[in-house]
Amino acid sequence: MSAAPPHIVIQEVAPRDGLQIEPKWVKTPDKIKLIDSLSAIGFARIEVSSFVSPAAVPSLRDAAEVFAGVTRRPGTVYTALIPNRRGAELALAARADELNFVMSASETHNRANMNMTHARSLAALAEIAELAHEAGALLNATIATAFGCPFEGAQPFSKVLDIVERYLAVGVDGITLADTTGMANPNQLTHLVSAALRLVPADELTLHFHNTRGLGLVNALAAYDAGARRFDAALGGLGGCPFAPGATGNICTEDFVNLCHEIGLATGLKLQSLIDLSRRLPELVGHEVPGQVAKAGRACDLYPLPERLRGPG
Ligand code: COA
Ligand code: ZN
Repeated sequence: MSAAPPHIVIQEVAPRDGLQIEPKWVKTPDKIKLIDSLSAIGFARIEVSSFVSPAAVPSLRDAAEVFAGVTRRPGTVYTALIPNRRGAELALAARADELNFVMSASETHNRANMNMTHARSLAALAEIAELAHEAGALLNATIATAFGCPFEGAQPFSKVLDIVERYLAVGVDGITLADTTGMANPNQLTHLVSAALRLVPADELTLHFHNTRGLGLVNALAAYDAGARRFDAALGGLGGCPFAPGATGNICTEDFVNLCHEIGLATGLKLQSLIDLSRRLPELVGHEVPGQVAKAGRACDLYPLPERLRGPG
């Protein structure tokens, strides 16, 4: 008998969002090993790397080698982040199953991150959609800074929804609303997620949160209550955009899985396997990572009674 389908789909982004900001070079075989271990845990989607300027994000300059080295698990979609047509070509040559195009709601952040205006990003997206679909690959399109920009502040809902419509007009297969620097709050989410779900089916809409202001899991739960069902998260809570001042990690995969399981939402992921893998991250990146549950253990992992409370036997 197969397990019941998960209530929530958690997509792993540590190899891309997590490692893009790490100052220590993580060797290509170690990246491949991390991704293979994530595949074995059974994620439906893993963001493997990004095909961007190696001068902009040196830590992911081995994207092609990483794609070539990972063992593809049937049932997992292996995604590559791309900013432009060149990125799409390289990602398709590397046999990415899905391209994840990124443009920011805030034009200021789009210039800081991609050196591109909205008009230039959108023109590239139209070409990328053709390339992706000719090659039989999926195309997801992300709206970064959808809930606030570190340079411009809050972004109007109408602007974000207008970009959703532009993305849909070129035939994307999925859309991600990304809170790049943890500026979202639950009230905002209730409104924006409900409005987005009038345009995009729940299984094609992803929410991407950073825990920069400690609201990551609260926001994820608010988005779930508003109907969202797909979420990005990073093992250990790694992550952050190198071109957004003050950026910090994504919501932590194992902390989110713990939350889901404790309140009765199935994820299809085994918490202990995530914890075991997360505990290997400090050695990989050379520092402690933000995740909590890997430090504390599962809520069901109880300790022996203190000696003085144990009976005589
Ligand atoms: N992959 C690899 N190299 C790329 C590339 C891509 N997708 N796009 C451009 N390049 C190379 C060009 O070939 C050129 O190389 P050269 O200097 O050896 O000739 C160089 O990068 C600059 O190209 P140009 O088209 O002038 O781009 P730019 O300097 O205006 O930068 C981006 C634009 C989009 C390439 C760059 O800003 C970028 O990679 N941003 C990504 C940021 C990111 O990943 N942020 C975090 C994730 S949201
Ligand atoms: Zn991110």
